[in-house]
Amino acid sequence: MHNKNVKKNKPIKKNMSTALWYYGLAGIIFWTVLVCVSVFWHQKAMHLGAVDAARIEAREAFQNHITYRSWNADHGGVYVPVTEHTPPNPYLDVPERDIQTPSGVRLTKLNPAYMTRQITELGFKKFGYISHITSLNPIRPENKADVWETAALKQFEKGIEEITSIETIDQKEYMRLMKPLITEKSCLECHKEQGYKVGDIRGGISVAVPMDAHYSIEIQNKRHFMLMYFLLWLIGVFGSLFFMFALNQQEKKRIQVEEELRKRDKLAGVIEMARAVCHELNQPLQTIMGNTEILMMEDVDKPTIKKRILQIKDQVDRMGKMTRKIIEIANYETKDLPQGKVIDIEKSSKPLESFNKKE
Ligand code: HEC
Repeated sequence: MHNKNVKKNKPIKKNMSTALWYYGLAGIIFWTVLVCVSVFWHQKAMHLGAVDAARIEAREAFQNHITYRSWNADHGGVYVPVTEHTPPNPYLDVPERDIQTPSGVRLTKLNPAYMTRQITELGFKKFGYISHITSLNPIRPENKADVWETAALKQFEKGIEEITSIETIDQKEYMRLMKPLITEKSCLECHKEQGYKVGDIRGGISVAVPMDAHYSIEIQNKRHFMLMYFLLWLIGVFGSLFFMFALNQQEKKRIQVEEELRKRDKLAGVIEMARAVCHELNQPLQTIMGNTEILMMEDVDKPTIKKRILQIKDQVDRMGKMTRKIIEIANYETKDLPQGKVIDIEKSSKPLESFNKKE
């Protein structure tokens, strides 16, 4: 019976732990998917962050152009010494474009667009920024808009205020940004003849800032966060493995305790029956004992008969002791006999309180 119990419990044990492992595995898969989705989402966000940062940088570059251009336009152009690099602007048709200082230094007037061209060169040398002042209707043919700028300028006519996109220029990625240049009162001094009024779109400046610095920050951030996500993932996986292991141990313990209880219940039933039988046997044994004692007192001549009576008494004594022991059985000790496992009555008959209480 003891063996059968163990056999019966085995599949239960297995089912419980496999179910547990399945739940654990499902948990780990869910956690992995969650982390992957977060990584994917965060990577995208970091890329968008880099793009946004580049856009802000490009906007600042554009604003710088606007600032000094306003300053220049407010002065109606500014005079600078004529050099090889700064010859008089053939497209600037204003009186006193070229003048001379009392000491004989030749000065020429820089209109805002000329200044923009020179500052563009500086910006490229210093920061790798590319800028271009342009218009759909340029005075200077070299100021002609390229395809991207033409499309942007047409959008401005429709009321859009800014166009940005990532473009490849000379095999390098740039954030390209363009905003319109609106005709102000100060512009009319030179641009009135073309028919512009205040508020008209005179043209625009396109700027392009290199993406590499932003991309390298993005890659650095991504590396840090990937490491963090990996650690987080590992903690989750090891945490759930540990949790599963602990649960499994607990489950094993619970099954063991249940098994023990079942065993005890069964044993209690068997023992109760054995006790009942022993109680029943007590009466006949007493009678046999009494009778043998009476027979012993009789005068029996034949020594062989006396010997037999003594033998009967001994055996009945043994049986009496045995029944008492069975009545006293407390725990469950087995011994191996050729015919199989049996209860070891000798070892088992130590009266235990629990069994005494049950009676
Ligand atoms: C002092 C005269 C002067 C003033 C003031 C002036 N411009 Fe110009 N602008 C010119 C000349 C000349 C050109 C063409 C040659 C060149 O690129 O220098 C030009 C070119 C431009 C261009 C480039 C497209 C093209 O036509 O070649 C834009 C855009 C422009 N001006 C906008 C403005 C705006 C906006 C203002 C007012 C904030 C302004 N300008 C004020 C003289 C002036």
